Amino acid sequence: MRTLAKLFFAAAAFAAVACSSPYTDAPIRSLEVWPDQDGVHINAHGGGILYYDNTFYWFGEHKGERSNNALVGVTCYSSKDLVNWTNEGVALSVEEDPASEITRGSIMERPKVIYNKATGKFVMWFHLELRGQGYNAARSGIAISDNVTGPYKYLGSTRGNPGIYPVNMTQQEIDEMNALNREDYPQSWTPEWVEAVKKGLLFKQDFQAGQMSRDQTLYVDDDGKAYHIYSAEDNLTLNIAELTDDYTAHSGRYARIIPAGHNEAPAIFKKDGVYWMITSGCTGWDPNAARMFSATDIFGPWTQHPNPCTGEDADLTYHGQSTFILPVPGKKDAFIFMADNWRPRNPIDGRYIWLPILFKDDGTPYLEFLPEWNIKDQWK
Ligand code: GAL
Repeated sequence: MRTLAKLFFAAAAFAAVACSSPYTDAPIRSLEVWPDQDGVHINAHGGGILYYDNTFYWFGEHKGERSNNALVGVTCYSSKDLVNWTNEGVALSVEEDPASEITRGSIMERPKVIYNKATGKFVMWFHLELRGQGYNAARSGIAISDNVTGPYKYLGSTRGNPGIYPVNMTQQEIDEMNALNREDYPQSWTPEWVEAVKKGLLFKQDFQAGQMSRDQTLYVDDDGKAYHIYSAEDNLTLNIAELTDDYTAHSGRYARIIPAGHNEAPAIFKKDGVYWMITSGCTGWDPNAARMFSATDIFGPWTQHPNPCTGEDADLTYHGQSTFILPVPGKKDAFIFMADNWRPRNPIDGRYIWLPILFKDDGTPYLEFLPEWNIKDQWK
């Protein structure tokens, strides 16, 4: 009898755990239209996902039919299972005031939101370009909210760590950089120019004003420290910058990584103490081959690996560009690679590519294009 009772309770406990998993066999179909609860294609491009209070919140760029500029702002969608999404509206709205940095017609790209446990605030960083200035401003916008879905309050914008040298430059390297002169390199992309960029030719020119900050993501490490990763130096070099404890500013500690590597669209995850970063090359809205790097210290050194994509269209990242890597809560070693299939002639029709990150026997991540897969069967 006692054994029967034990069996019964074990079965009940197993059923409770099984039922508590939010994931189903509902398919994730990359490159298709993804309807929200009203049947409207999700409008959250260049996005990222925050898992908070057993719910996924997807923040992304609202896109219109003709323009890639911000006409609405940053949108938010919520989901329990990563397949059924509810439109939560505009999290950070563009402003009507033409003097505002986030006035309608500015560019607000690749928003990411993280939660600060100490302050209880949700903090958003995004790539900001000022209206009418193309991609020249190269700034980061910051906004906060007490509620995950918003409304977010715009705090202002910054460039990367003005007047501060990176932690991974020695005094000798700083001296060598300061000896470089732009006039000595009149032509871009010569081997000498690339070598000088590696040493900080472009870094030097933005040192006082702060480093450019375009494609970007945020990462919160296991110890609660958060990092802002962005394309600096005219997209030639990535910076990884630690944030202050409240996550609303750069702390002053940062590294210049993969100098002259020409990387955009950074997305990062950590597994077994190793940071893995997937990026793209720089060809605007057109897809190119992804790149992958790893490091055991977030400030580097970072080691390059071959393109993680395999199979057909691997050299075009399956027609996408990385935006975020989501660790799947409740599943071991489960990460979803998220990318955008941009459609610049009709940006609102941009599609999403979500794929499980697969691992080789030696632990190296790789990707395969699965036109249809589901979380329940992918990770038992
Ligand atoms: C891409 C970048 C996008 C957007 C676009 C504009 O390279 O990843 O976020 O900035 O360029 O052309």
